[in-house]
Amino acid sequence: MRLEGKHIILGVTGSIAAYKAAYLLRGLVKEGADVQVVMTPAAKEFITPVTMSALSGRPVISEFFAANDGTWHSHVDLGQWADLMLVAPITAATIAKMATGVCDNMLITTYLSAKCPVMIAPAMDLDMFCHPSTLKNMDTLRTYGNIILEPGEGELASGLHGKGRMQEPEQIVEEVIAFFNSKKKLLNKKVLVTAGPTYEKIDPVRFIGNYSSGKMGFAIAEELASQGADVVLVTGPVRLMTNHPNITRVDVESALEMLNVSKAEFPNTDAAIMCAAVADYRPATQADQKIKRVEKDLSIQLEATDDIAACLGTMKKEGQLLVGFALETQNEMNNAVAKLQKKNLDFIVLNSLQDKGAGFGVDTNKITILSKDNKAQKFELKQKTEVAADLVGKIVEEFAKM
Ligand code: CTP
Repeated sequence: MRLEGKHIILGVTGSIAAYKAAYLLRGLVKEGADVQVVMTPAAKEFITPVTMSALSGRPVISEFFAANDGTWHSHVDLGQWADLMLVAPITAATIAKMATGVCDNMLITTYLSAKCPVMIAPAMDLDMFCHPSTLKNMDTLRTYGNIILEPGEGELASGLHGKGRMQEPEQIVEEVIAFFNSKKKLLNKKVLVTAGPTYEKIDPVRFIGNYSSGKMGFAIAEELASQGADVVLVTGPVRLMTNHPNITRVDVESALEMLNVSKAEFPNTDAAIMCAAVADYRPATQADQKIKRVEKDLSIQLEATDDIAACLGTMKKEGQLLVGFALETQNEMNNAVAKLQKKNLDFIVLNSLQDKGAGFGVDTNKITILSKDNKAQKFELKQKTEVAADLVGKIVEEFAKM
């Protein structure tokens, strides 16, 4: 399924080609897309909302308010939810409204609120299509970055022959897939990501752990996957879900388990991003039974764990990228550069606990990416999802140089 995980708004307007929107919808859903249909009032004269809601598994949105209980349909939420807005078929009237911003129906307000790319598939009679006003309006939409799926030539519903036939539903589905693939810059790349804390067992009920939430590593894995990479996410105990089908998640607990999985996976990957907060020490012995309280202090002997990043650094081959993180509280730059060299990393992502909003548990992070050629790139405080996009962008750039 080539559109798995994709959120698509399918706008349908009042053209005779609206009946083909049912086939188009079926094609998108068959490829795994989650589709929300938005119909203009005129579209409902050509095809019923019942057909479209049955095929999409979601109630069709058409009015600003739901008819039964008056609930307001939020076009803003809808616009933010979507990865793509596709209007097929689109009439000359809707093209004109989109070009000029006349929001007199739910479809146009959704269009104006949409943050995602927009694709339109015109369907109209040839004279309407060739009219200077339609051509001008389409040019305006192109300047907005909207993608126009040019109509084909052929027999039209009016009986005339010429340009104005909407592309066939199967063709449009392929265009949508090609569009998503063209945005993917890491197709055929495999990336290992470590995330979260590790737990080092003291006895059957106790462990040594840390406050890492795994949010940064999970955001990186999602971003890599959405760029087309196959991701192996090796994670310590966290309360997070993975969503993307390209992510293979391996849950581990201890540093040793994380090391073993990482060593086994690394040779088959193009890059590894070491985001986990791995314990540097573990109890030298693990008690089989619960340690009982005694009336004196207790010492636990700790032994060093292996450094997973450093271990992969020794295994690294030409063409592989190794990225580490450094969480520092003082002397940040020098410490980070020392780690980069010691572990044979290509990049190290520095986050300082001195920066408010950076570090464990929070949704934001502020990073500096240091590269092995001594370049430093500083980023603002951002959401971890945006930080992930910056870092993955850097990796894409680096692959392009290879
Ligand atoms: N790391 C690792 N295995 C370890 C320790 C760290 O893979 N046993 C990785 C982390 O995932 C991170 C980088 O090494 O990418 C640096 O981790 P950090 O804890 O900042 O550094 P340490 O080398 O452990 O140094 P210190 O704790 O003394 O600052």
